Amino acid sequence: MAEMYDEIVAVTENRPLTGGHFLVSFYAPRQAQATRPGQFAMVRLLGQSDVLLRRPMSIYDVAARDGIEPRMPRNASTMRGQSRIASHRSKRRRGFESPEIIRMLYKIVGRGTRLMAELKPGDSVGLAAPLGQGFFAEERESLAEQADHVLLVAGGIGIAALLMPARELARAGIGQDLFFGARSRADLVGVSDFEPWVKAVTLATENGSRGHRGYITRPLANYLERRRGRRFLLMVCGPWGMLRASAELAKKYGHLCLVSMENRMGCGLGVCLGCSIRVEGTGHEAYSRVCTEGPVFDARRVVWDREEIPKI
Ligand SMILES: Cc1cc2nc3c(=O)[nH]c(=O)nc-3n(C[C@H](O)[C@H](O)[C@H](O)COP(=O)(O)OP(=O)(O)OC[C@H]3O[C@@H](n4cnc5c(N)ncnc54)[C@H](O)[C@@H]3O)c2cc1C
Ligand code: FES
Repeated sequence: MAEMYDEIVAVTENRPLTGGHFLVSFYAPRQAQATRPGQFAMVRLLGQSDVLLRRPMSIYDVAARDGIEPRMPRNASTMRGQSRIASHRSKRRRGFESPEIIRMLYKIVGRGTRLMAELKPGDSVGLAAPLGQGFFAEERESLAEQADHVLLVAGGIGIAALLMPARELARAGIGQDLFFGARSRADLVGVSDFEPWVKAVTLATENGSRGHRGYITRPLANYLERRRGRRFLLMVCGPWGMLRASAELAKKYGHLCLVSMENRMGCGLGVCLGCSIRVEGTGHEAYSRVCTEGPVFDARRVVWDREEIPKI
């Protein structure tokens, strides 16, 4: 059984990048070791009464200790009695030993992420992780192996969900390309982290400041058009419209497509239903919770007619 831990963890680094993005690291050994590619965490900012809801963030990476000695949180004693909630996924071995650090790549968009940007080494946050089904949940484990090649497709901060899958695929000897689109060059963060794992990188920006001008789905469409007859698996994370466009391309060219959703969330634990999306089915089965059944879905299951992001 995979596990989720709800802990108070210490910040070890919070590095500013371009375009209002940050890379934050937490000392969180149990959570790092339980994390599988494509899972996420809920971050709780302590002592901020106006930011009650936890913020969902993809787990960008797990790593061995950074060399920066983390100071333990002031209320470290509560860590021993912290709740440990068994989730329903089975634990899998990862290709590296005992990671202790969890990293998240985030962009400032509102109050919660602005406060995250103020975190300093030694500060504490509440972290519930790992959450959700990753890209390689049991029923999808063999999909990548069945494909000739994997296409990682990221829109904006959706890039954060794809680094761990990229590394796991590369270690399994599965070839992959990265397609990454964003508003401007400052939003194309993390590209160098992918370069060791992928064969080729295609970039696009809406303002044309780097790579192709326009949406990344255009070079993706050209790529698929030129390679009819090959079998691709698309693994996509980004805003709804981009997920939908990628799902349509996958359908048109007959490829499998996994989408990782970034809907707004309340609890992150399957209780409030605030993250529900429409999927194929009737009655209760017509809805699926992004936090527990997702965030990764087979694109063929999702009802793409309209965006359903409930206001929480
Ligand atoms: C599974 C999952 C993984 C995510 N991973 C990351 C990540 O790795 N890095 C990252 O930067 N962000 C990620 N997000 C989005 C992140 O949770 C939101 O940006 C964050 O909660 C915003 O909090 P805030 O208080 O700063 O903004 P708020 O004040 O809550 O909102 C500010 C603005 O952002 C919009 N907004 C807030 N959340 C979302 C959302 N989920 N989708 C679209 N618009 C939104 C609001 O409508 C509003 O316009 C993820 C979301 C999910 C569900
Ligand atoms: S966020 Fe509450 S059920 Fe998904």
